[in-house]
Amino acid sequence: MHFINRSIKNIKVPIIFSAIILALVLYALRGFTADLAESTNHAVFGPGDNKEGYESADYQTNSLDLQQRIGKEARLIDFVSSPPLGLPPVPVPADNPVTTKKIQLGRKLFFDRRLSINDTFSCAICHIPEQGFANNEIKTAVGVEGRTVKRNTPTVFNSAYLEKIFHDGRESTLEQQVWSPLLARNEMANPSIGYVINKIMAIREYDNLFEGAFEGRGPTMETIGMALASYQRTLNAANSPFDLWYYGKDEDAVSEQVKRGFKVFAGKGSCSVCHQIQEGFALFSDDQLHNTGVGFEDSMGVEPETTRVQLAPGVYTELDTSVIKSVSRPRENDLGLYEVTEDPNDRWKYRTPSLRNVALTAPYMHNGSLLTLRDVIEFYNQGGIPNELLSPLIRPLNLTDTEIDDLAAFLKSLTGGNVSILVEDAFAAPIGDISADDPNWAHENKLEF
Ligand code: HEC
Ligand code: HEC
Repeated sequence: MHFINRSIKNIKVPIIFSAIILALVLYALRGFTADLAESTNHAVFGPGDNKEGYESADYQTNSLDLQQRIGKEARLIDFVSSPPLGLPPVPVPADNPVTTKKIQLGRKLFFDRRLSINDTFSCAICHIPEQGFANNEIKTAVGVEGRTVKRNTPTVFNSAYLEKIFHDGRESTLEQQVWSPLLARNEMANPSIGYVINKIMAIREYDNLFEGAFEGRGPTMETIGMALASYQRTLNAANSPFDLWYYGKDEDAVSEQVKRGFKVFAGKGSCSVCHQIQEGFALFSDDQLHNTGVGFEDSMGVEPETTRVQLAPGVYTELDTSVIKSVSRPRENDLGLYEVTEDPNDRWKYRTPSLRNVALTAPYMHNGSLLTLRDVIEFYNQGGIPNELLSPLIRPLNLTDTEIDDLAAFLKSLTGGNVSILVEDAFAAPIGDISADDPNWAHENKLEF
């Protein structure tokens, strides 16, 4: 008896210890695989690392082997020349007309992990096609070597229409935007622009691809941006049930609940003041930045004494927040538009995101702090988070439970009918990976300095 007791104790200690370590790691990644039932994209196309039901002990993974993902190439250029119902004409810069060669090159780059310092990170590692080209599994992004990024990964669906790019609107063209993640130390971590260009030039697979797409010009700062922008400009997802009903005049395209939800959206909820719907099309954004209080709460908020951490399906533990903080890097503050303008009145202002495909892109807000669409609606219903700079447009709404449900149903009707075509096309994209003749730090033919 004595003997058994002791051996149980001996086993228990390492188990508890490992559980705590695991919990800390999970917290550091902030990968609380929260209740994502609302964001279930599984129903739309099947494959993907969907963790619906992860909170229950009998959870079974839905992830598919890479080999089981069936890719199907699409004529992406069609989504630029005739965007799906509900979207306006796609703005294309005069100096970068979209061509099939550029799209194909951009797509190859988007999925190429060699575009990061240690060949681990492509754009698609964060902008995951089957997760709405966002990331459902972590609140804020994680870059190379586990380095934390302070913001949530937004979708790149419909990024062709963005006039203010990033949560704080600091970029204005897709062509230029790509250099932020390519160079950020906590994203793809390339040490310089020239490094990226030289690396692409040294990969034989890219021989003549730039020259063919850009009238003889090889990889440059400009052409890399132009190619990636051309691919992203095709990822236009609309023709949703809402579009079929509202613009297509098909009364049966949505349920009565969705129609009621639309009334709340455009009426009592006054959501459409910021998430605008135009005549003939809807981008669901005013392209402005507002203070809803999310950012204020994040940078000023009091932390809970304990934090609930999920260790495995159905297994939770409460950890002292102070313990977690003692082993975590201090979180970087986020002041929103202030970081761009340095105007104190711009603190905690973030760009109004489009709501198209929002059911696919949980968790929500610039910091991923709201896990479900219902959480978001309840946040607005209570009047956001009061602070001295709160937008005057955010106020308590007094929505009833039914109105909240209706509004959520409406938001779910915004998932594009062509999403699965774009995702299947992404699955067909070549995944750029290191091979024996690549300029990789781990190989003998690495770039010389
Ligand atoms: C480490 C994860 C990560 C990687 C890798 C990454 N992104 Fe992002 N992406 C983000 C995050 C986080 C944001 C929001 C950043 C912000 O607002 O400050 C973002 C924002 C964007 C946006 C703006 C969307 C919007 O709504 O404003 C686009 C477009 C984009 N990324 C494209 C790309 C491309 C192209 C690449 C590859 C060259 C890439 N991303 C690589 C995480 C990533
Ligand atoms: C004052 C303008 C404004 C109003 C009114 C407004 N929103 Fe927003 N909405 C925003 C901004 C700004 C954000 C981004 C906040 C952030 O990132 O911290 C946002 C984010 C969201 C998101 C998260 C999207 C994502 O991809 O993360 C949803 C969903 C949303 N709003 C729905 C609604 C609904 C429903 C209403 C009406 C009840 C509403 N909004 C009213 C400006 C507004």
